[in-house]
Amino acid sequence: MSETSLSASPASLSPLRLLLLGYGHVAQTFLPLLASRSEWLASELGIRAIISGIGTRSQGYYIHPNGIDATLLARETDPKRSFIKQANRVDTAEIFIVAGKTAGASLLLELTTLNPQDGQPALTHIHSALSSGMDVVTANKGPVAFALADLQALARQHHVQFRFESTVMDGLPLFNLTQFNLQAVGMRSFRALLNTTSSLVLSLIEQGYSLEEGIRQAQKLGVAEADPWYDLDGWDAVMKTTILANTLLGGQLTPQMVEREGIRNLSLDAIHASARAGTPIRLVSQAHKIHRQVIAEVRPRPISQEDILHVGKGTTSVISLETEAMGTITLVEHEPVVIQTAYGVLSDLITVLQRRQQVT
Ligand SMILES: NC(=O)c1ccc[n+]([C@@H]2O[C@H](COP(=O)([O-])OP(=O)(O)OC[C@H]3O[C@@H](n4cnc5c(N)ncnc54)[C@H](OP(=O)(O)O)[C@@H]3O)[C@@H](O)[C@H]2O)c1
Repeated sequence: MSETSLSASPASLSPLRLLLLGYGHVAQTFLPLLASRSEWLASELGIRAIISGIGTRSQGYYIHPNGIDATLLARETDPKRSFIKQANRVDTAEIFIVAGKTAGASLLLELTTLNPQDGQPALTHIHSALSSGMDVVTANKGPVAFALADLQALARQHHVQFRFESTVMDGLPLFNLTQFNLQAVGMRSFRALLNTTSSLVLSLIEQGYSLEEGIRQAQKLGVAEADPWYDLDGWDAVMKTTILANTLLGGQLTPQMVEREGIRNLSLDAIHASARAGTPIRLVSQAHKIHRQVIAEVRPRPISQEDILHVGKGTTSVISLETEAMGTITLVEHEPVVIQTAYGVLSDLITVLQRRQQVT
């Protein structure tokens, strides 16, 4: 137990004022998770989480000048509605960030929809928040895939933090592991199964479904989106592979520089034959370094029984890292759902706070 835990009383806790930009599945799961950890945050970090703003595209952007205690807000049947009733509306996301900062918010949780074309407008919003001196945590792959180096440079310039653990493998501590525990390990390459929709659709086809039936079934299970082709054509895996290649291998790739082949053109015969031979086809992400250059690709490949990626059954994600000093390290996330993503956001928030406390 830390020193703080012995002395923390509600009055002595420091307020941590948060802005929630985007209030969909992840944010709605994050808020009760955050509230459920209020005692831990108080005892270990001496803070009390307060929601200063909630903004969404269709319902508008709202700032509460004093903020509402996250624990109290999470108890409401409809927290967003309750917040909106008590808060002031502002016109745009940009004004939301400025007004939130004025109201004392120090951390933006950017949880809006992915734009796979260029990461906008989330990229601009993150840029504004970092420039204004706020820390930012995001689960949104777009800004990270398109502009990680710029955003990290901006964060350094303004002495704030930018974290994105949930973008690739939900809450699995991949970036935290490599940043804090595998420093100077000599990362050589990685191979991974990162797209749950394509894994599930391929395994359903192996069980006898047609492609269309497999997609419908994956949609029924809540895994595939209404438009599943962003996943099946490999774009989701490309975004994740870009982030991994740039973060783990020091690449400077954009999504367009990752070789891409989805599963659209695989014949059912090829899928069945490969599965019968004990080498089911899965959409594999991989990248390696040659003479400081990073080469990355996403492609359907047969996975043999001996392949470490073979553990990736159903919607399970797996990544295998090849390192100089630690050999092969493999991480498996079993059938992730939205709570893992929300936990990744919470874990980033905690890291931000711990690092702030180290600095002061
Ligand atoms: N769900 C997961 O398990 C998971 C896993 C890993 C990563 N992620 C990523 O996490 C992010 C959030 O996912 P989600 O499942 O919560 O998405 P979601 O349910 O579709 O919710 C997205 C939210 O963002 C809002 N939004 C979209 N564009 C906006 C804008 N320009 N300004 C303000 N608000 C905007 C939406 O508002 P309206 O409803 O008003 O449009 C909605 O409240 C996405 O980038 C997703 O790719 C999700």
